[in-house]
Amino acid sequence: MAKFQFLAAIITTAVLPLVDAVSSQAYTWENVKIGGGGGFIPGIVFNPTQKGLAFARTDIGGAYKLNADDSWTPLLDFVDNARWNYWGVDALASDPVQPNRVYLATGMYTNSWDPSDGQILISTDTGSTWTPSPLPFKIGGNMPGRGMGERLAIDPNSNGILFFGARSGNGLWKSTNFGVTWTKVTSFTNAGTYVPDPTDTTGYNSDIIGISWVTFDKTSGSSGSATPRIFVGVASMGSNNVFVTNDGGSTWSAVAGQNNTYIPHKGVLSPAEKSLYVSYSNGAGPYDGTDGSVYKYNITSGVWTDITPVSGSDLYFGFGGVAVDLQLPGTIMVAALNSWWPDGQIFRSTDSGATWSPLWAWGDYPTLNKYYSYSDSLAPYIGPDYTDTTAGDKQIGWMMEALSIDPFDSNHWLYGTGATLYGGHDLLKWDSMHNVSIASLADGIEETSIQGLISPPSGPSLLSAVGDIGGFVHTSLTVSPQTGFINPTWATTADIDFAGNNPTNIVRIGTGDSSTGKQVAISTNSGITWNQDYGAADNVTGGKVAFSANGDTVLWQTNGNGPLVSQYTNAFTALNNSIFYGAAGSSFYLSTDGGKTFAPQGSLGASTSPVKVVVNLNVTGDVWVSTDAGLFHSTNLGSTFTAVPGITQAWAIALGAPISAGKYPSVFAAANIGSVGYFRSDDGGVNWVQINDVAHGFGSASSNVLTADPRIYGRVYIGTNGRGIFFGDVAGAAPSPTTTATSTAAPTTTGKTTTTTTTASTTTTKPTSTTTSSTTVKSISSTTSSSAPTSTGATVAAYAQCGGTNWTGGTVCVSGFTCTFSNPYYSQCVPS
Ligand SMILES: *[C@@H]1O[C@H](CO)[C@@H](O)[C@H](O)[C@H]1NC(C)=O
Ligand SMILES: *[C@@H]1O[C@H](CO)[C@@H](O)[C@H](O)[C@H]1NC(C)=O
Ligand SMILES: *[C@@H]1O[C@H](CO)[C@@H](O)[C@H](O)[C@H]1NC(C)=O
Ligand SMILES: *[C@@H]1O[C@H](CO)[C@@H](O)[C@H](O)[C@H]1NC(C)=O
Ligand SMILES: *[C@@H]1O[C@H](CO)[C@@H](O)[C@H](O)[C@H]1NC(C)=O
Ligand SMILES: *[C@@H]1O[C@H](CO)[C@@H](O)[C@H](O)[C@H]1NC(C)=O
Ligand SMILES: *[C@@H]1O[C@H](CO)[C@@H](O)[C@H](O)[C@H]1NC(C)=O
Repeated sequence: MAKFQFLAAIITTAVLPLVDAVSSQAYTWENVKIGGGGGFIPGIVFNPTQKGLAFARTDIGGAYKLNADDSWTPLLDFVDNARWNYWGVDALASDPVQPNRVYLATGMYTNSWDPSDGQILISTDTGSTWTPSPLPFKIGGNMPGRGMGERLAIDPNSNGILFFGARSGNGLWKSTNFGVTWTKVTSFTNAGTYVPDPTDTTGYNSDIIGISWVTFDKTSGSSGSATPRIFVGVASMGSNNVFVTNDGGSTWSAVAGQNNTYIPHKGVLSPAEKSLYVSYSNGAGPYDGTDGSVYKYNITSGVWTDITPVSGSDLYFGFGGVAVDLQLPGTIMVAALNSWWPDGQIFRSTDSGATWSPLWAWGDYPTLNKYYSYSDSLAPYIGPDYTDTTAGDKQIGWMMEALSIDPFDSNHWLYGTGATLYGGHDLLKWDSMHNVSIASLADGIEETSIQGLISPPSGPSLLSAVGDIGGFVHTSLTVSPQTGFINPTWATTADIDFAGNNPTNIVRIGTGDSSTGKQVAISTNSGITWNQDYGAADNVTGGKVAFSANGDTVLWQTNGNGPLVSQYTNAFTALNNSIFYGAAGSSFYLSTDGGKTFAPQGSLGASTSPVKVVVNLNVTGDVWVSTDAGLFHSTNLGSTFTAVPGITQAWAIALGAPISAGKYPSVFAAANIGSVGYFRSDDGGVNWVQINDVAHGFGSASSNVLTADPRIYGRVYIGTNGRGIFFGDVAGAAPSPTTTATSTAAPTTTGKTTTTTTTASTTTTKPTSTTTSSTTVKSISSTTSSSAPTSTGATVAAYAQCGGTNWTGGTVCVSGFTCTFSNPYYSQCVPS
């Protein structure tokens, strides 16, 4: 926060009028299609009773249901700001007795990043509607070990009974009433001991992973009575970690003869064989694992058999996904959790693990014999031009914890990766000709974390800056783009902007792939091709960016290197050449000497944290500022502000096409107007309508980005943290709009404190919260951190950030690099 002090500050405190419920206008909301995944798919569950019924869960973007045409339907789009942690799905169970019942264990983090406890979401209509059952502890859908499981299981003989294996040392929990209430199973005393990194002071890697899976042995009981035998896997290494009860959970013991060297990731029952298949890795996942094993446990004989598919120098990974073919007992598959090079690996056995065949094998080096054909037609971005530089040109994938064979169709299989979901429909060809068809089958799953959006007034209507998978020119909103941004190629695009007067000129910035060059790129053809901006210094990364109106000057609020400016791609220097707006705390600032000094202007009321400054391109001095204390508007370069009455908080804001020629641009805001939602005003902020509905909550409001279409009245784009991009269009007649204030209420205006000076005026410190250039009339949006962190769906690239206070991205570096502490706020992947 900037070190500005006021000698005087005049703050008008006005009592806001009570707000009537804001009227709503119907909107259609649809995903902007990227085409499949975009993040980690930790779990895929087929219902064993109803043909064709299957679900996938994600770590930050909710859960999905499979459709007959291989596409997926999102199930948790109702999730709003208050319930944002529902999008972290740590476990999923589909009822084998009443397939209409499905359960999700939800909650995002078990450390302080998520203040709320978790809940079991219960659906009795295969996921259309949900009822939460609160739990007295946190659930970690985006925590380490989230690919193990499933931790939540339904008794296949008496489906009112469920068990849930908790994290954080909270042990095993049981429900006997279809998940409505839960009690701790006190007889189960082993809550797990493994923590990935006890020294992690954020709590993210230092929490106990806990119970990793619960598997009923249906064959031990009979329909209508509680199943006696239940296996439980626990994340511990070097001490007992597979337990069993033979009396429905009253008493438990460690399964005799187990090899507990490594952590059991999956325990999958083959009922016809009366056997349990267990995969092990020497880490909790999802990024790690350099050794592991696969075991078969014969329940009848009590004998464990090591069936690890490879050994010696071929064994450089742990094991994740395990699948059994219920139609063909003895046919099983296991996935290498992470074979980072040359590609992920999957093994298949038709003799219960006695012998195995791989999905690929080395030919004459460097040739790979690929026993598969590969199609990415549904998500072309993951093809040869795939932008995840940590992944190279891998086809098979990584972070492979989810692997399933359709219980009704031995040819149909699906598996999840760190980036998407694959599968096929000719799996038996593995056995007949050792060659199967693998296709990207994540159509409908949009799991990206959106960092920035622009809708220029000409050219393609939308360009995106996306976490982990770069970003896109969306020439169509409903057809997958053929490629992401390339040359330069960065895993994460931090921000993107266009030049107001030359809107085919675009600038984007990356978050730190030094290996792939400088982190500023410029396009003069609407993002089709790019040039690196050689004015950017190496190793200066991230933050927010703005392009000047004519496209000659880039303003860059970096992460850690302050605000920089460069004209004509000359070297970036400290910001110095134009007028700037800034906002910090409750104050708005104007600099007329190139950022040397800032003079406070109007006050932003009770704001302590400005979020976003947006300038009306058509009217000089017309500026909007969203803050934690409401939405503020100035028409005089910020000299005075009017607080929009009735808005108590505002996050992302955008101006779009006016309702008719000559009118004020429509104003869009993620805001709290009585409740948190998405709102539009067609008259400059006097009257507002709510445009989202109960089916579209968009998750954490503070994490989301907005842009409005300058060419289509009413159209707005919302970039979410975990559910991709949505576009919304007016669908229904406008209601009579609701004034958020009574007409007699005077707007809360805070006068300019003309006598105010600032003691910090000669320092180089800039207001850090929000700056925008008035002469370039484009905002550099907030550096205020969002509450909900971005996906950690891949290993961290060379030289990129991998830790630090409040860091929520990946913490494990790409092979050859080690995450190294540099200061409390920053750890970096450096060569090992
Ligand atoms: C247990 O597993 C480890 C790791 O796979 C292996 O090295 C060890 O030999 C196994 N122990 C026994 C007794 O089989
Ligand atoms: C399990 O062990 C029993 C008893 O030795 C044996 O009869 C059975 O065939 C074994 N099952 C499998 C799948 O090997
Ligand atoms: C498997 O089939 C694909 C597609 O026909 C082919 O490209 C590939 O070479 C085959 N793999 C092997 C090892 O023959
Ligand atoms: C960028 O960072 C890498 C890794 O720390 C270092 O090797 C390189 O010298 C740095 N480049 C510059 C110009 O500082
Ligand atoms: C910044 O502006 C001051 C005053 O106009 C000037 O003396 C100085 O050289 C400028 N610095 C840069 C880096 O342009
Ligand atoms: C700015 O003015 C142009 C020309 O009148 C108009 O087409 C455009 O919609 C306006 N933009 C906004 C955001 O109001
Ligand atoms: C980390 O997050 C906490 C809670 O949001 C916040 O109070 C603190 O200032 C943050 N620390 C840093 C260094 O950003």
